[in-house]
Amino acid sequence: MSTQPDEQEAEKRLEDYSLLDPQVHACPYEFFQRLRNECPVYRMPETGTYMITRYEDIRAIKRNPADFTSNITVQERGKDRIELMKEHDAILAKYGWDNVQTLQRTDPPQHNRWRQLIDRTFTASRVRELKPHIDAMVHELIDEWIDDGECEFVSQYAIPLPCKVIAGQLGVGDTDFWKLKAWSDAMLEPASPTCPPEKVTEHAHSVVESQHHFYKVFEDRRKQPQNDIMSALVNTDMGDEPPLTMHELQNLMNQLLTGGNETTTSAISHAMWNLLKFPDQMARLREDQSWLKNFVEETLRFETPVLGLARKTTRDVEVSGTPIPEGSMVVLTYAAANRDEDKFDDGEDFDVTRKNAGAHIAFGMGAHFCPGAMLARQEILSTFEALLDRLDKIEIARPLPDETHQRSVFLHQMKELPIKFTTR
Ligand code: HEM
Repeated sequence: MSTQPDEQEAEKRLEDYSLLDPQVHACPYEFFQRLRNECPVYRMPETGTYMITRYEDIRAIKRNPADFTSNITVQERGKDRIELMKEHDAILAKYGWDNVQTLQRTDPPQHNRWRQLIDRTFTASRVRELKPHIDAMVHELIDEWIDDGECEFVSQYAIPLPCKVIAGQLGVGDTDFWKLKAWSDAMLEPASPTCPPEKVTEHAHSVVESQHHFYKVFEDRRKQPQNDIMSALVNTDMGDEPPLTMHELQNLMNQLLTGGNETTTSAISHAMWNLLKFPDQMARLREDQSWLKNFVEETLRFETPVLGLARKTTRDVEVSGTPIPEGSMVVLTYAAANRDEDKFDDGEDFDVTRKNAGAHIAFGMGAHFCPGAMLARQEILSTFEALLDRLDKIEIARPLPDETHQRSVFLHQMKELPIKFTTR
């Protein structure tokens, strides 16, 4: 007797899902839903890492850095490739500046040293000042392809915009943004299990290249400050604290680049994809653009760019009744929490008018809450104000590839999104 698809689904065990499986990674939400319902603290058989998928559990962990530390070294993150990571760090130490733990990889109170500086740099007034500049870049990018009636939205828009915005702020200059993207990829990829081993040392040399570039910009901004984030970083008075070392500055650069690029690209790509998958929602926005801000939040909730990030337990702990031994890696799966039905009614539905869309934790929460959140929100908002204004009848131009997303266990990045449209 043949097995019906429903029966096959029912037979699927949790261990049959893996985030390394491209199909699961492209759409991990069925897996996440089952985890929330059946096993909210799930030990992944492949890695021994614990996935936490319920909204309130993640919030409780975030409030408790003493038991769940962010202080995880590059080697610990790339445990399965420890020798390679040592080689990687040796290249940085020999030719550039090797890794030190700052900001995201530290806990309060040490974390305050870098966080106060970043908070003084990424202010609301800086984002307000940047808005006209962002709007201009948005329109320039659209101008490049609008007359063609089609474009590949990821490479022709969603990658360049955040790169160009941050390039201007980091002294790379508008035109070199593909170089910035290559550096950012090189910084992110080595610790990921999806990075081919032969690429790890190549990436290390690329990171060294970026460090020497940034070193020159730091020196330049010390002598001649400009109105950008780089100048604010090197010239801010640290009060009683010792000034930042070059190692710290390089590590902060790494976090600003990697934190701001792939994430915003993912958010912009998925925002467009959501509108194409749910045309009624696009129509709702066209009818009343006052929903646009809420649409930005709903997109971040529904297709969360950072699927999850790790913490390490500092002692034996329990989460929702499940014991977790000291020294375990715990993944706070933000993308799963953001669809938790206990927090978001009909959480699997995309609804631009959702009342509590902004309660998502796509930017984390607590001490490590994303300092780039305002900037990212502005980039997404400016994008869709302009696109809805200038494009009409937007559709997918051709079928997406079988593997829709880049392979990564913690980021959710679309490979491509070809669209066609008419102009308004
Ligand atoms: C849609 C876009 C973005 C998303 C979804 C996002 C997501 C996140 C998340 C989830 C965290 C918390 C990490 C944790 O829990 O340990 C974080 C932290 C961080 N983000 Fe973002 N981010 C975005 C855009 C940006 C931008 C534009 C920048 C800078 C230009 C940035 C820089 C950072 C930095 C430096 C941290 C570390 C903060 C700390 O540890 O105190 N992010 N981000």
